[in-house]
Amino acid sequence: MNILDFQKMKNMNQKISMVTCYDYWSAQVLNSSYIDCILVGDSAAMVIHGYKTTVPATVNMMLFHLKAVTKGAPNKFIIGDLPFCSYRKGLSKTMGTVDEMMKAGAHAIKLEGADDNLKIIHHIVKSGIPVMGHLGLTPQSVHAFGGFKVQGKDESSASKIIEQAKSLEEAGCFAIVLECIPYLLAQTITESLTIPTIGIGAGPYTSGQVLVFQDLLGLQNEKRPKFLKTYLDGFNLVKSSLNRFNDEVKNNTFPIIEQSY
Ligand code: KIV
Repeated sequence: MNILDFQKMKNMNQKISMVTCYDYWSAQVLNSSYIDCILVGDSAAMVIHGYKTTVPATVNMMLFHLKAVTKGAPNKFIIGDLPFCSYRKGLSKTMGTVDEMMKAGAHAIKLEGADDNLKIIHHIVKSGIPVMGHLGLTPQSVHAFGGFKVQGKDESSASKIIEQAKSLEEAGCFAIVLECIPYLLAQTITESLTIPTIGIGAGPYTSGQVLVFQDLLGLQNEKRPKFLKTYLDGFNLVKSSLNRFNDEVKNNTFPIIEQSY
C-alpha cells in the first residue's frame, strides 16, 4: 500500500484496515498480515507506558517506537503520530519534529484537530509529507473535553466536526481518523468528503477502521469500550501459558532431558 492507494480504495469502495503498533515484534506480525497500514499512535503512552491519557507522550517516545516498528514492518505504510503539543510550538519546531519522524521511517504523520492547525497542516503537506487528520474524540484534548466522551452528539458540535473535516480535506490531508462520534455523523462526513475516513468508535459507514493492536487481540485486562471487538482472548491465553510454565518449573516437568544439552 502507498499513499495513492488510500484514495483509490475509497473510490473503489474498498475498506481500509489500520492497526496501531509500537514495537518490533508486533510489527513483524503485522508485516506478515493483510492489514493495510500501521499507525504508531501516541496511545503508546497508555498501552505501553501505563499512563492514563496520551498527554505524557513525547517526541522521543514516539521516535523510539517508530524506529522499532519501521524495522519490523518494512512492507507496510506507516503513519507516525505527532504527540501532545509537538505541533503547537511554532512552524520551525513542528517541522523539526516532522523531519525526525520521517527520517525515523514514517511515510506520513497524523495530528489531532483542525482550526488553528490548518496552516501547519498545509505547510507539512506542501513539504511533500502526507498528513492524516484526526477529529471527534481527539484524546490529546481529553482535559478540555472533561473525559473520554463521545463527541458530536448535538447538532452544533456535529456541524462543527463536519466543517472541520472539510477544512482538513482542503488543507491537504489524505485521510481523516474519526474517533467516537455517532455513526450517522461519521456517514455524513464520509459521504461529503472526497478523501477516506478511518473510524474508531464511529460505526460501519467510514472508509476504513482502526483498532489498537492490544485491544483487538484482547491483551488488555481493562474495561472495554462499547465499540471494541476482540478477535482473541489474548490476556487469558498469555496468562494461562505463563501459569503452565510456572507449574512445570515448580513440579520439575520442564525442562526434560531432551530439552537439555
Ligand atoms: O494513538 C492512537 O492509537 C490513535 C488511534 C486510536 C486512532 O490515535
